[in-house]
Amino acid sequence: MTAELDWKNLGFGYIKTPYRYVANFKNGEWSEGVVTGDDTVTVSECAGVLQYAQTVFEGLKAYRTADGRTVTFRPDLNAERMIESAKRLEMPPFPADKFLEAVDKVVAANADYVPPYGSGAALYLRPYMFGSSAVIGVKPAAEYQFRLFCTPVGPYFKGGAKPISVRVSEFDRAAPHGTGHVKAGLNYAMSLHAIVDAHNRGFDENLYLDPKTRTYVEETGGANFLFVTKDGKIVTPKSDSILPSITRRSLCYVAEKYLNLTVEHRPVRLDEVENFAECGLCGTAAVISPVGKINDRGREILFPSGMERMGKITQKLYDTLTGIQMGTVPAPEGWLREIK
Ligand code: PLP
Ligand code: COI
Repeated sequence: MTAELDWKNLGFGYIKTPYRYVANFKNGEWSEGVVTGDDTVTVSECAGVLQYAQTVFEGLKAYRTADGRTVTFRPDLNAERMIESAKRLEMPPFPADKFLEAVDKVVAANADYVPPYGSGAALYLRPYMFGSSAVIGVKPAAEYQFRLFCTPVGPYFKGGAKPISVRVSEFDRAAPHGTGHVKAGLNYAMSLHAIVDAHNRGFDENLYLDPKTRTYVEETGGANFLFVTKDGKIVTPKSDSILPSITRRSLCYVAEKYLNLTVEHRPVRLDEVENFAECGLCGTAAVISPVGKINDRGREILFPSGMERMGKITQKLYDTLTGIQMGTVPAPEGWLREIK
């Protein structure tokens, strides 16, 4: 039976659900994972995660489709990305088949918390792993824990489809040759001061510039950028220090194959942004959140799509992608994984 929640008015917050998955790495191997009701973690006071932030995570969603199935969206790509993140932080990769098992089991066990079709909400899944054994010298931990929990969520930005305002950040999020391209908790710790400061100044998000020359658009704290040119082309920033967003890659495919649009994935200079017609943030949590304006250290760039509604092409991309996720638009082979 579906849980009694105000599905249409959920924000992006943590709501404890009954079950999660846990596996441990010890003596060089991963244990069998188990589904448990225990939402607490007990580790050494000197655990690698607590001392040196040795932790990586992922984010993906489960949806209820129009015909009543429960599906997850491209979880194989999250499994792959988590392996890359783990390697960069000298952690033992969590095998992709076990990752998919964890996804399937947690969604099935919490089936009552998969939001109803049409509510606009989804079940957000948070896989993560961390160094659990004690380290005091700067080195990787010997033991690790992988966990996956879930929480029902609504839109990441209040107001859902209403355009947000973004400011160009004076702070950097990732260093050249650093960890910006992987999903390490430390990248998000780095962004906390910048996001609090942005909110205090009335902006919804930060646009980070490339850390080396500070002239190219990178991404925000939790999503990639997507621009639309005045002649209807899609442009997405390319950089070695941004997260390779699964949503962005999916949207580019949708743009080309479903909407017959031209897609350019290339470095985007900050000084060319004012020429674009539409702008959006794309990610699992953000889906596509329209950006109405960007404040570049006092200079305001207002996109022609304005602050009232999503731009036309952004809207088409949004409708097609969410249609695929909810089963009303045919999905490319392998994009939806059904939970039985
Ligand atoms: N960029 C950052 C920094 C993120 O945290 C996320 C969220 O996962 C994204 C981009 C979007 O990636 P995805 O579409 O794979 O969720
Ligand atoms: C996601 O979209 O899954 C993210 O991880 C972004 C943010 C919530 C950290």
